[in-house]
Amino acid sequence: MADRIPENLALLYGAFSKEAIDRILPGDSFTVDGVEFVCKYSPESTPTKFHIVKPIDLVNRYRALCAQEWRHAGIVELGIAEGGSTALLALLARPEHLVAVDIEPEPLDALDRFITDRGLQDSVRPFYGLDQGDHEQLAAVVDGAFAGASVDLVIDDASHQYELTRSSFETLFPRLRPGGMYVVEDWNAAHAMRIAVRRALQNKEAPDYEQRRASFREARQEAGRTGRRDGLEAPLSRLAVELLLACAGLSDAVESVSVDRHWLTVIRGAGELDRDSFRLADVYWDFFGNLPPLVGS
Ligand SMILES: C[S@@+](CC[C@H](N)C(=O)[O-])C[C@H]1O[C@@H](n2cnc3c(N)ncnc32)[C@H](O)[C@@H]1O
Repeated sequence: MADRIPENLALLYGAFSKEAIDRILPGDSFTVDGVEFVCKYSPESTPTKFHIVKPIDLVNRYRALCAQEWRHAGIVELGIAEGGSTALLALLARPEHLVAVDIEPEPLDALDRFITDRGLQDSVRPFYGLDQGDHEQLAAVVDGAFAGASVDLVIDDASHQYELTRSSFETLFPRLRPGGMYVVEDWNAAHAMRIAVRRALQNKEAPDYEQRRASFREARQEAGRTGRRDGLEAPLSRLAVELLLACAGLSDAVESVSVDRHWLTVIRGAGELDRDSFRLADVYWDFFGNLPPLVGS
């Protein structure tokens, strides 16, 4: 195992085991401009070989968009991980500005060296130790790096948690130009997780079938006894419903919203949005109770 284990990966290894994480992406690989990319989440990137945490069909979508719509765009990316998506965007889109952010405090040496080796210091800027939910710091780094240039695209592939994702949406969406694209990747992560758990619990062929069901029952009883609400925080799909409500209410903040199995995509409308005080809840009305109350509110 590599010496460097980023905090996010350590958490995932702790929750699911290294073997389970290694199994999620099969390790497809491809080369762009002399740099090899491997679709895998493991801490082994080098300046000429990056690990990217995306399946190959999603990578192919990136390639198609970078060739046209995203070419020379001003891009903000949340979630660097092993640097694969940042390096890929840098090579394929040749962005005017690419600000990439991660909560991981340790800078990624492979990405820093890739940027220096290719003389991309003026256009590609990674920021580490920055929480997507920190409005002031996120706003400051984006405003500083873009210095008045337009933000055309935001890709959020960071925490996949509702509160944090909504917070960075409220910071960055008003900074996006009208007609610009805001992508929230893996917006259905909580649903995918529940389905995986359900399937595992229903798999009678599994050698530990009875044991799995017993520990699940035990965990539920424990939750009932203690009132603990772990796992009951709002799923990220709530953000999709809120954005849908903004469209339904004819808000000029949001031009369109679409979803597919990888992406929640929002196109910014032409309405004026205040960069400091924009709140999503101010641009929709839940007349018909489409949103359940938030746990703890
Ligand atoms: C799925 S990985 C990103 C994968 C990368 N975009 C790629 O395609 O190769 C998620 C990353 O988000 C970071 N992250 C998690 N929570 C965050 C937060 N609150 N703010 C910023 N980054 C966060 C993690 O440290 C991790 O590196």
